[in-house]
Amino acid sequence: MDSHDLTLPLGYTIHHGYPSVPQYLHLRLSSGLSPKTSSQAAAVSTGSWYGCYVTFDGVNGDPQPIGMGRVIGDGGWYFHIADMAIHPEHQKKGLGDVILKTLLREIRNRAPTDGKPYISLLADKAGRRLYLKNGFVESAPEEMGMVLEL
Ligand SMILES: CC(C)(COP(=O)(O)OP(=O)(O)OC[C@H]1O[C@@H](n2cnc3c(N)ncnc32)[C@H](O)[C@@H]1OP(=O)(O)O)[C@@H](O)C(=O)NCCC(=O)NCCS
Repeated sequence: MDSHDLTLPLGYTIHHGYPSVPQYLHLRLSSGLSPKTSSQAAAVSTGSWYGCYVTFDGVNGDPQPIGMGRVIGDGGWYFHIADMAIHPEHQKKGLGDVILKTLLREIRNRAPTDGKPYISLLADKAGRRLYLKNGFVESAPEEMGMVLEL
């Protein structure tokens, strides 16, 4: 994958796409995010607009996904960033930043140029500084994020 200025630490590789269903479920859990089912996870690769993930070479030469992020959207103007997750053993190495910048670059490169893309996310505490550093601003009080869990 073309990384331009997005340099990863030694041993890490970034890929377009998504981890497999079991890898995704494991990565969410190990990163402290809520558990999901296999059927929910199956829609990640079919229903997202773009995703990327980072593998770590490890010691036995079997690269495992240790971080990911994805964009859900219509490809026109509405883009929602989801599943920003880095395994705790690999946090604070700049991987989250590379993943976020990769997602934003993809939107910049592929969204129509005759209008501005609208990029949203719900920021857990752990990610707030990362998002602020990459240009996100709080939408409240003009617009307040709301959720409905059925
Ligand atoms: C949020 C999350 C994805 C960030 O991933 P990350 O890989 O740790 O992010 P980065 O390494 O790019 O940045 C995190 C911090 O490490 C610092 N850092 C980056 N490289 C570093 C290095 N080589 N040495 C020391 N610190 C470093 C960054 O400056 C940043 O510091 P700051 O928070 O004080 O600004 C990760 O913490 C995570 O998965 N959390 C659990 C799941 C979660 O809450 N996801 C967010 C949902 S909204």
